[in-house]
Amino acid sequence: MRFSLLIRHLTVGLGALGVGSVFWLGRLNWDPEMRLWRAVGDASLVLLVVALAAGPMARLWSGACPLLGWRRETGIWFGVLAAVHSALVWHGWARWDVPRPSWGMSSSPSSVASLVSSPALESLT
Ligand code: HEM
Repeated sequence: MRFSLLIRHLTVGLGALGVGSVFWLGRLNWDPEMRLWRAVGDASLVLLVVALAAGPMARLWSGACPLLGWRRETGIWFGVLAAVHSALVWHGWARWDVPRPSWGMSSSPSSVASLVSSPALESLT
């Protein structure tokens, strides 16, 4: 691996760690396990938004052009964090089980939580 490529990946990886840490530190009263996988998911989503928004932003505002050169590393780290997030959810929380009501997603009213706890799904289990 070329040295500059390594530096670029280290830069984006450390940036992602910083973003994840902000989310992690913002919820110190949460269960440690859930706090970790949610922070990793949040950092992953931020990287995805940056990677996708860089192109349109550079079109609209020339000040965003330097972001264009970082899209590859940002996209790669998005994928890495999303995979880690998924693994942490499945392994640490869902215990390799299929979605069922006892997953207990009570802390946010997201569509995923509503789906998993819906009476329609409950009747299938
Ligand atoms: C593109 C890949 C993914 C991204 C960017 C992503 C990102 C996120 C984000 C930002 C959250 C909210 C975290 C918070 O509340 O602070 C979240 C929640 C969650 N994610 Fe992911 N995620 C991805 C893939 C997955 C996959 C594959 C699974 C399944 C294994 C999964 C399971 C969950 C669950 C169960 C929640 C909690 C939902 C709730 O409480 O309502 N995610 N994810």
